[in-house]
Amino acid sequence: MNRITVTPLAPALGAEISGIDLRRPIDADTLAEIKQAWADHLVLRFRGQLLSDPQLLALSGLFGELDPPGPNPYGKPFLSDFPEINVISNVKVGGEPIGNLGDGEAVWHCDMTYVANPPRAAMLHALEVPESGGDTFWSNMYLAYQTLPAEMKAKIAGRKAIHDSTYNSAGMMRKGMKAITDPREAPGAHQPLVIQHPDTGRAALFLGRRRNSYIVGMDLPASEALLDALWEHATRTEFTFRQQWRLHDLILWDNRCTLHRRDSFDPDARRVMHRTQIKGPAVVAFGA
Ligand code: OGA
Ligand code: MN
Repeated sequence: MNRITVTPLAPALGAEISGIDLRRPIDADTLAEIKQAWADHLVLRFRGQLLSDPQLLALSGLFGELDPPGPNPYGKPFLSDFPEINVISNVKVGGEPIGNLGDGEAVWHCDMTYVANPPRAAMLHALEVPESGGDTFWSNMYLAYQTLPAEMKAKIAGRKAIHDSTYNSAGMMRKGMKAITDPREAPGAHQPLVIQHPDTGRAALFLGRRRNSYIVGMDLPASEALLDALWEHATRTEFTFRQQWRLHDLILWDNRCTLHRRDSFDPDARRVMHRTQIKGPAVVAFGA
């Protein structure tokens, strides 16, 4: 039996799990401890784990049914043998990208919230990391909601926002999309701004991504102003955890109650991550 240790990484969210080898079978008690730590800390980091693709898939499956990657800008899976695995990388082979998101900043977002049932969780496994740059940040959306001024809570109560599906977090247009300038016309799911977490039942702010977001039923300028204020609040440094990647880090995050973003890095450096995600139930408005 494993004896894991849970060490918080930041006041708002994030914890390191040590004392476990993720390549070995995980007994039910240990898995329950990991799941409890995940519910408490929202983002879990495991260091020094080198998993093969089948091992990454098996581990991911302990947290639920796998959810295949969304459409990337190139229109086909990056790993033809493992279509459930996504690749996040700036590396090109013969001029062709082996993964998504390039080397630029990936702006604050939540994954695939432009579909009705966005993934519940995602796992990112660092196979090659640059010496510096490419840090990833997560922000706690339970805390963002709890600390929202009462008048802002009142303004968003019962409201939905459009989650645009046109662009990814690196600003690239997804395959088959057309340019959008008026957020009111953006394609993508309309999601409640305050959701009920499927496992914990707690209220979380649910923003998706800022670009082309629009609060349904509001005047466009009023929607823009309120969204700017919500985003500024939700991404305050004290709500965040900063991950400086080491080789063979593995991070599991909750995609229903956190946002994340990534710093840019040296285009001549190599960064290769293999990634899975877990299916989630339909998004439910808090108190619905
Ligand atoms: C992702 C993502 C950020 C990173 O995999 O969903 O946003 O650090 N990645 O590469
Ligand atoms: Mn992402």
